[in-house]
Amino acid sequence: MMEHMGLQPKIKSTVRCLDGPIGEVSHVIADPLTLEVSHIVVKSNGTERQVPVETIRSADENTVELSCKSAQVPEFPAFVRADFLSSKEVEIPHLEDRIHAEPGEIFVPFPELERSCARRTFFTGFTTLMGVLIGFPFVWPVLQYVMKPMYAPFDNRWWKIGNTSKIKQEDIGVQFTFKKSFRDSVLQREEDKNNWVVKASPATLKQIYQHGDITFTDNVGNVVWVNRATVPYVAYSGKCPHLGCGYKWRSHKTRGQVFLCPCHLSIYDVAGTVLDGPAPRPLDVLPIKISPAGEIEVIDIEFKAGKREQVRIA
Ligand code: FES
Repeated sequence: MMEHMGLQPKIKSTVRCLDGPIGEVSHVIADPLTLEVSHIVVKSNGTERQVPVETIRSADENTVELSCKSAQVPEFPAFVRADFLSSKEVEIPHLEDRIHAEPGEIFVPFPELERSCARRTFFTGFTTLMGVLIGFPFVWPVLQYVMKPMYAPFDNRWWKIGNTSKIKQEDIGVQFTFKKSFRDSVLQREEDKNNWVVKASPATLKQIYQHGDITFTDNVGNVVWVNRATVPYVAYSGKCPHLGCGYKWRSHKTRGQVFLCPCHLSIYDVAGTVLDGPAPRPLDVLPIKISPAGEIEVIDIEFKAGKREQVRIA
């Protein structure tokens, strides 16, 4: 039995069983927690099977030797592309530093609700720790950011981000980008921002407004806007409530269309509800108003990431 830590299988290597060649390596699957290869995908006679690394007897530049017979390979689970995300679709810190699947992509299992809490908690803790270590040199700007509410009022300006004519269908996430100008401690600056807007169906609207109209307040608690449950357009902050990454609108094989955050694989439905992953709260709804001509304006509120409760910070 070979040592599997650090295995670097080559895509297109010949795969041999105890009784002769069976096919070739078509993909590599990694465990996103250990950052090690967990399976190779063996392509044989037009089918692809997930073969666990424990079955690998030896591997060199051109050949992977398995410790099973060729008749046993079809018994391994089939590789179904929709069950996985590739390293081009998700950013898992250090994954591609550890595994070189050349020439090709590394796959990780698409997260499912039934994953154990312990596993998820470990993953969250690990990635948070890595983020803190990597971000340490930038601690002063972060401190300034965190302390901003203590010395600056919240920014309640309305931003024109586009027109509802861009939204062709109900319950579909549509991204709007805009440039936001602001003044930091020294300079006037401009930042590229993005929000998501959904034209909500009655069912989605009911889910979003399950607690009634949504009220937004300034830094001293005065009401700056109320989103009414009768307005079908809903805007979400473009930042994932977990750690602030940008997320995308994607297809999921069982859940249909979802918002997917590539950083740690949080998944949200069209109403912003968390379906899977480490996100501690739903997507953050923003104040929105729609002109008679369909112009969309939002207040680009910033909320603290990583908190179960919504805490406004800008
Ligand atoms: S930032 Fe971690 S899941 Fe989005």
